[in-house]
This record gives sequence, structure tokens and C-alpha cells, in this order.
Amino acid sequence: MRYHVTTFGCQMNEHDSEHMRGMLESLGYEPAPQRSDADLILFNTCSIRETADNRLIAHLGEAKRLKREDPTRVIGVGGCWAQSIKEEVFARFPFVDVAFGPGQVHRLAEFLASDSLSAQGYFEFEGFTGELPEKRSRSFQAWLQISVGCNCACSYCIVPSTRGREVSRPIADLLEQAQRMVGDGVREITLLGQNVNSYGRDLRPSRASFAQLLGELDAIDGLDRIRYTSPHPKDMREDVIRAHAELPSLCEHIHLPLQSGSSRVLRAMRRTYDRERYLDRVALIRERVPDVALTTDIIVGFPGESEAEFEDTLSLVEQVSYDGAFTFLFSPRRGTEAALATEGIVPHAEKVARLERLVELVQRCARERAQRFVGRTVEVLVEGTSRTDPDRLRGRTRHNKVINFSGLARPGELALVDVHSATSQTLAGEERLLARAG
Ligand code: 5AD
Ligand code: SF4
Repeated sequence: MRYHVTTFGCQMNEHDSEHMRGMLESLGYEPAPQRSDADLILFNTCSIRETADNRLIAHLGEAKRLKREDPTRVIGVGGCWAQSIKEEVFARFPFVDVAFGPGQVHRLAEFLASDSLSAQGYFEFEGFTGELPEKRSRSFQAWLQISVGCNCACSYCIVPSTRGREVSRPIADLLEQAQRMVGDGVREITLLGQNVNSYGRDLRPSRASFAQLLGELDAIDGLDRIRYTSPHPKDMREDVIRAHAELPSLCEHIHLPLQSGSSRVLRAMRRTYDRERYLDRVALIRERVPDVALTTDIIVGFPGESEAEFEDTLSLVEQVSYDGAFTFLFSPRRGTEAALATEGIVPHAEKVARLERLVELVQRCARERAQRFVGRTVEVLVEGTSRTDPDRLRGRTRHNKVINFSGLARPGELALVDVHSATSQTLAGEERLLARAG
């Protein structure tokens, strides 16, 4: 796979693009000399100058033509301009597959490595106002691909046909690579795979399990945080849930893709679990790891999704009360079963209206859930300076919340931060200076 990135605007966008390149190369992508040679075309946008806007629109015109020639190409638009128009990106530029805000490169990685290179979706955007250069080196965070391919048959998803059966990398190779990363200064590793919790079942002569992999990674000295994405709810077993309760480096965050809250729609999606089974997994997780942060992926406007079925998704979201969610408009992908549907197609405007209702609910739940951190002291891996205030720092908590805070810690350090306030997207606080975490 080859990628091409075009960057507009400020120094910070250059940094984000650098980070994107590093992330893509660690996922096995190679740079393409020209846009027309790329499978993945990215624009890192800026909304500061109108001339840049016009230039961007001309470039997008070329991307549209390339997409028409080869619909398997993926077009992504990130950065401040994308943030300023949010989901309108898809209404105005329907050939765009993915949109994301500034600083969301991390989520782009999840998107690319998790289920789909092809879904139309946008990641929640965070508050961002200006043009602030950020000094950071992300050498302390790394991605580790543990498997490729997928044995599921989700009817909307292009992965099974494009990437084939699941192949796990041998556990010894992964441990060795993780060890090497930690030797190079990495403190946080995110494991990537289409269905991470079915990891290892295909390995011969001896199988391995995802829980076993987690346990062995946890034993690596100097690896402070382990994250992973994405698990499949059908394979979410007790051993992995127990690992969250027991392994010190495994973060208190589980991204558990839901897709729909309607059992009928889940059946049509061939997800192999229903609403009750999903809720049962959530109950088990909450029982064993009460404070865990739960996030999810949801598709709206799947063919045949009725208003009542969409409301089932809303009620499930309300019931689970996620800490955050990635929301997607259903988009038919060539070669998938769902793309063959001729009946029950949800009109684009209706899909967008449902997405807006869903996003509003997701944000309300996220805001309410985030209040539980206020008054607590949390461990933060410092990533750089705040995007809105160069005198403050920015990092991520174990629950995967972004936090802006005042303090003295440097990027790559763990700080203890007292949380003073919380919104749906970010926390704010102050570092405890006497008790540095490390
Ligand atoms: N249309 C919309 N969303 C999709 N996803 C995958 N394929 C599609 C599609 N055809 C979403 C799913 C998945 C996430 C990464 O992308 O929600 O979990
Ligand atoms: Fe696609 Fe389903 Fe496999 Fe995820 S689990 S990669 S959605 S087929």
C-alpha cells in the first residue's frame, strides 16, 4: 500500500503530517511519489487563509477524479479546515472516506488498522483555536501490528475480501519487537489488528491467545502502557477482561465496536452477536473493571435501518453511556454484501440527520462520564504543549482522555495531575509537583 500526504498551513500541521508518515510507515505503507500512485490520499488542511481553501478545493477535485478511476482508493481529509466543517465534509465532498481533526493522527491509525480503510466516518474533533507550533517527539509511543486479515464476514466491510483470512504474527516476534521498542524509549504500545482478541488461534504448532500476549507484554520492564484496537464483541472473553483488572500496564480503556443497537440490523450486518449479548459483555466488563472507559464504533443508515431501529441504537448508547464513540455514515463498498441492497436504502439526508442526533447523544454521555474524573489525581503520559495555550501541557490519561494541564513535566514523562474540570473531549487540571510519577 502506498500513501501520499499534502500539507497546508502551519508548522503544527507539518508536525502532524510527520507523525502521520511515521505512523503509516510503521503500518507498512510506503510513500508514493505522486497522488495518482497512492492507495491512500491524505490532505492535512488549514482554515486560516482563504487562498489555501481554494487551493485545497482544486486538489480535492483531482482526488475525486482519482477516486472515480479506482474506487478502492481511500481519501482522507484532516486538520483545521476539516474540523471547521465537520460532518458537512461528507455532504459537500461525498468521495471523502474519512475526516479527522488536528492532532487526531492517533485515531487515523486506529481507523486504518481496525476494520476499514474504506468507511466514511469522522473522528470527534477537539477544541482548537490557533496556530501553535508544538514541540514534541512521539518516540515514546508506538504501534504494533499483531495480525492482518479477518475471519469475520461483516456484510458492510471490505476487509475480508481485501485482506483475506486472519494471520497472526508469532508471539515471540511480537515480544522481541516490543522489547526493542522499549529499549528505544517507547513507554506506550498500541496493539493493532482487525480483530485483536482472536489473535493467536491460527498459530501453529502452538496456539497463543490474546490474553497470553497481553500478559507477556505486561512483563516487559519499562513498558508502562499497553492499549489495543479493535476487539470484536463476540470474542471478548473473561480472560481479556480479567487482564484489564490484573495487569498494571494494560490501560483502563476498551474500544468495543457496537455498529448498531438493533438485533435485526446486527443480524443483517452479520455481526454474530445481538443487543442482549453485547450488553451482557458490557455488564461483565463493568463488573470486573468498574472504572473502565468504554468507547465504540457505530454505523448509521445501514440499508433497511428503520427509524425505530435507529432509536434502538440511541437507547443502547444511552444505557451504556460511552466515554466516546466514532460514528460513521453507512457507505456501500464494492464487493460487500451490503452494497448489493436495493431496498431500504436510507437517503443521504436522513443518514446525516441520524448521525447528528447520535453525535449529540454521544457527546452528552461523554461529558457526563468525564465528570467522574473531576477531583481525582490521574496518571498522564505527556505528549507536548496544549494546542490552545502554549504555557500548558497536553497528555493522555490511561482512560485515553486528552488532558490539558499546567506543570513542568516534559513530553514522554508520566505526570500525576489533579483534574479540575471535564468536557466531553478533554480534561483540565494541574500537575502535582511533589509527587512525580516517573
Ligand atoms: N460504512 C460505514 N462504516 C463502516 N465501517 C466499516 N465499514 C463501513 C461501511 N461500509 C466502520 C465500522 C468500523 C469502523 C472502523 O468503520 O464502524 O468499526
Ligand atoms: Fe470487517 Fe467485521 Fe472483520 Fe471488523 S470484524 S474487519 S468489520 S469483517
